Amino acid sequence: MPIERVGVVGCGLMGSGIAQVAAQAGCQVTVREIASQFVEKGFESIEKSLGRLVEKGTLGASDRDQIRGRLRGTTKLEDLEDSDIVIEAILEQLNAKKELYVALDRICPPATIFASNTSSISITEMAVATGRPDRFVGLHFFNPVPVMKLVEVIRTIATDAAVFEEVVAFAARLGKAPVRTTDRTGFIVNRLLVPYLLDAVRVLEDGLASTEDIDNSMKLGCGHPMGPLTLLDFVGLDTTYSIARIMFDEFKESRFAPPPLLKRMVLAGWNGRKAGRGFYDYADATKPKPMRLS
Ligand code: CAA
Repeated sequence: MPIERVGVVGCGLMGSGIAQVAAQAGCQVTVREIASQFVEKGFESIEKSLGRLVEKGTLGASDRDQIRGRLRGTTKLEDLEDSDIVIEAILEQLNAKKELYVALDRICPPATIFASNTSSISITEMAVATGRPDRFVGLHFFNPVPVMKLVEVIRTIATDAAVFEEVVAFAARLGKAPVRTTDRTGFIVNRLLVPYLLDAVRVLEDGLASTEDIDNSMKLGCGHPMGPLTLLDFVGLDTTYSIARIMFDEFKESRFAPPPLLKRMVLAGWNGRKAGRGFYDYADATKPKPMRLS
């Protein structure tokens, strides 16, 4: 049975993007948030993203209307009961996720596949909180979801091989390029990306170069769309700090240890673009200015 009815839990940056691409692919999507103002905020961001596509001419206005018609917001978890797949994109807290899966396990029929968009929490640990670890995968999207082509599809030792391939095919149907991987903290991308981002902070901390010169080096020397410190601001310093700590805990390798400057910035609440400041000050978002950090 192809996946047609998609449930998404969490309508933040990632959840709203996932809901959007699933609706764009023709699926019926129900997105659940804990309060209606979060549903509204998520739908506003979907509206903005679809608006960009219409403006560019990539999407017709009538297609946009049909996509809107396939999207439904709710605050009731029970509304996800007829989903073929439920994709969870809530906050990165193991206990909150486990609690959610226990509730979903009661609500959804045994055939429903559960998928987590976590970037670092063990898929196995969440899967065993349910009665269906064989129908549980990781499905890791990248920010901004409507733009980034990659999706990591993660299997655990308990994931059924046919379920795994069904989810790989679903990711391809969303217009994404799926890659297959296994349940090791950070999967493929963060295993490579996080040490690189942390090294950029170390280079800055060691006084090797300025914020702008570090970013320009990787943009202009290696063709990256954003320099590492701009990317840290984009991803969120708190998010990266949390991923790094989980990875350090798992592998005990110093390359995953968050540098002191990153910790200080998170303590100060300078979490990047969403906080208005991080490695740059976003008072004028069109012209971010490097922050003084020593
Ligand atoms: N919805 C729809 N379209 C969007 C969009 C959105 N939310 N955001 C950007 N776009 C589109 C723009 O309309 C534009 O389209 P065209 O080229 O067709 O005109 C295109 O994307 C580029 O956008 P902009 O011109 O506004 O800006 P840009 O050229 O600087 O690109 C960017 C922005 C796509 C974010 C680019 O800078 C980039 O790729 N950055 C790297 C992002 C990245 O590495 N993401 C992964 C982070 S790691 C992660 O997510 C996982 C984790 O676990 C931490």
